[in-house]
Amino acid sequence: SIPDYVKIVEVGPRDGLQNEKQIVPTSVKVELIKMLVSSGLPVVEATSFVSPKWVPQLGDAKDVMKAIRSFAGIRLPVLTPNLKGFEAAVEAGAKEVAVFAAASESFSKSNINCSIEESLARYRDVTLAARNLSIPVRGYISCVVGCPVEGSVPPSKVAYVAKELVNMGCCEISLGDTIGVGTPGTVIPMLKAVMDVVPLAKLAVHFHDTYGQALSNILVSLQMGIGIVDSSVSGLGGCPYAKGASGNVATEDVVYMLNGIGVKTNVDIGKLVLAGDYISNHLGRSPGSKAAVALSRR
Ligand code: HMG
Ligand code: MG
Repeated sequence: SIPDYVKIVEVGPRDGLQNEKQIVPTSVKVELIKMLVSSGLPVVEATSFVSPKWVPQLGDAKDVMKAIRSFAGIRLPVLTPNLKGFEAAVEAGAKEVAVFAAASESFSKSNINCSIEESLARYRDVTLAARNLSIPVRGYISCVVGCPVEGSVPPSKVAYVAKELVNMGCCEISLGDTIGVGTPGTVIPMLKAVMDVVPLAKLAVHFHDTYGQALSNILVSLQMGIGIVDSSVSGLGGCPYAKGASGNVATEDVVYMLNGIGVKTNVDIGKLVLAGDYISNHLGRSPGSKAAVALSRR
């Protein structure tokens, strides 16, 4: 049955912005994070400590962290692809990190320049260092239903990577439909396979909305008992190494749906819409959330 409360993990400042060509000033990123925090979101993924050659937009990770250090009572995790990134993140004050593997070899290679097994070895180093500092590590898996190169991805492969990430100490596993090709037809069997090997309470879903399937996929995930949902304000986003992938599902749309089915999130949708307006105005784009557009017209 559907959980009473869903934890929304806002990934806009990271997943949402990482693919933007025009560099967004640090001050704008910080203001966005501030507005998202004030809307009541429990977790806001702030930035990534990745190679600035690979993701130039997030080259100011250190400065962003410095500016948001004082934000109390909120979890602000960051992405770390290796020990180097982990150390830089900790140095900058990160209290939580995330590693990111893939269920497809081609995507692993194009995103982090190594095989799945090599990435798992790197992440063992990261999780070990994190454990010593009592830093929680979230583990992402990309391409859980489809890969831009390999096409459909077998659920058994996703389950394998999920199990490895849990075994090394990841506290949460976020299942990413990176290119947004999934439907309940592919998502349900994938979730079943993962649930056989990972406790339900550790699972999160991360849908991109390329084919307009994200809310349906979220609803079936909730019906299967999942209580953690990733989303991006105003539906910002896309992955630089997944050509054609559109943004994440919009946080405003997720909150609107959850409000409608009586699931608690503690998020103030009005304040969320303001955060979406702020960043959309900055990017010179119309808001990517249908709920936000509709609410703004009222
Ligand atoms: P590489 O080129 O194989 O790494 O990249 P390397 O170890 O050979 O190092 C190359 C250079 O990068 C060196 O610098 C290193 O010092 C530097 P140089 O000597 O050339 O000046 N370097 C770093 N700099 C800063 N921070 C670091 C770091 N590590 C090495 N942590 C690497 C390998 C993993 C670094 C690279 O491929 C990378 O940064 N990839 C990140 C790609 C990325 O951020 N993708 C988007 C996030 S994943 C995603 O969006 C999916 C998700 O949303 C879920 C979903 O939707 O499915 C999570
Ligand atoms: Mg993503």
